[in-house]
Amino acid sequence: MPKADLVVVANRLPVDRIQDESGQPAWRRSPGGLVTALEQVMQKVDGAWVGWAGKPGLQVDPFDFDGTHLVPVELSEEELEDYYEGFANGTIWPLYHDVIATPVYKRRWWDAYVRVNRRFAEAAAEVVDEGGFVWVQDYQLQLVPQMLRELRPDVIIGYFHHIPFPAYGLYAQLPWRRQVVEGLLGADVIGFQRAADAGNFQRSVRRILRYGTKRESITIPQPDGTARTAIAKPYPISIDAQSFIELAQDPAIRARAVEIREQLGNPSKILLGVDRLDYTKGIRHRLKAFGELLDDGRVEVGDVTLVQVASPSRPGVEAYQELRDEIELTVGRINGDYDTIHHTAIRYLHQGFPREEMVALYLAADVMLVTALRDGMNLVAKEYVAVHADNRGVLVLSEFTGAADELTSALLINPHDIGGMKDTIMRAIEMPAAEQSRRMRSMRRRVLENDVERWGRRFLADLETFRDSRRR
Ligand code: G6P
Repeated sequence: MPKADLVVVANRLPVDRIQDESGQPAWRRSPGGLVTALEQVMQKVDGAWVGWAGKPGLQVDPFDFDGTHLVPVELSEEELEDYYEGFANGTIWPLYHDVIATPVYKRRWWDAYVRVNRRFAEAAAEVVDEGGFVWVQDYQLQLVPQMLRELRPDVIIGYFHHIPFPAYGLYAQLPWRRQVVEGLLGADVIGFQRAADAGNFQRSVRRILRYGTKRESITIPQPDGTARTAIAKPYPISIDAQSFIELAQDPAIRARAVEIREQLGNPSKILLGVDRLDYTKGIRHRLKAFGELLDDGRVEVGDVTLVQVASPSRPGVEAYQELRDEIELTVGRINGDYDTIHHTAIRYLHQGFPREEMVALYLAADVMLVTALRDGMNLVAKEYVAVHADNRGVLVLSEFTGAADELTSALLINPHDIGGMKDTIMRAIEMPAAEQSRRMRSMRRRVLENDVERWGRRFLADLETFRDSRRR
């Protein structure tokens, strides 16, 4: 088997298992931003991608897809429960999102996490070329960098953390806090979304391991008495802005945006929320604010409609099941009180949609509501901005997202402050075109300049620097 010069290791492969027209199993590129981001890089180099095929117990041999070598890692039904739903999404996810939901600490889950991380590390060690790069993605695989370094000391290792890294006071709860920090420090380059995340990580390194840090560098003592350096710094991720701009110019998608407004009964303002159905996204807070605006008579059904897309996510995790019940109860109550035969208060869609339909929704929306309680970045905010080439539309954005560090011309809110959020939503609804345009223009400049291609290039350039100094 040919070896790859760049290996991406992520929980999921960049493809989804589907059935073709004849009912045969086939693969389709997944819609995610990371996949689009790395697509071009991977085709240029000899690239491989190690990941889970998305179904437990599915055994598939490595195969080539669109110029990338894909290496499936198998997970059993039990590992799906203990590693993915358990440790990744029942322990790390809530802990790293500031304990919005209560993290559960189970030794069985940890054991599965170690076992599965080792499997990913071994698969990467198999395919990477001598002196090549391995780029590990996200919180499901925090132990892979160190495991891989032990197996393949010749390779340069990067790790990018897509979600927040919490303050030490919270991180310290983790019974395996030392092992996780050591796992991450196996990488040469450790990337975070925000400067604050990198700072939190460095503080944990100082507190737990007593290693020295100086600006972005961390000094890691080696068994032979020498030391090596790793860097931990922010690389805020972005979107493929150009592809969103192109979709937004497509006449069929523009026509669809007009049709959406008509089908909603021509409200004068459409508010939009687009999220995975996740407790970090602040969907309940948003519904509460909107429901109260209706109660107060500050908005009227028919005049203002909220479209809420909540795409199904992690249905096997209890906290997500509870959240779904709560949201659906709330939507049902608000709509029951305010809908008319012709108009709805909230058009709630518990579905995922293709990118074309999402762009039509963004184009139709006068106000975009991103009210996350904590979010690593939030790419929805950037997508909304990218499609509005006419500089119309208002972004209401939570301060607790990574995107808020960059999109400072949005209407920034604290989603815990329901009164403040209500006033800001009203301000967004009433904002004059000139102000919309001024704000949107400055946000668009930012998103178009810092697109995901630049993000990938910055990260890989830092890996190159490590390789150069290692060769010297
Ligand atoms: C977040 C995480 C990703 C994850 C995605 C979807 O964006 O940072 O690592 O893939 O959510 O979640 P899922 O559990 O369906 O992969």
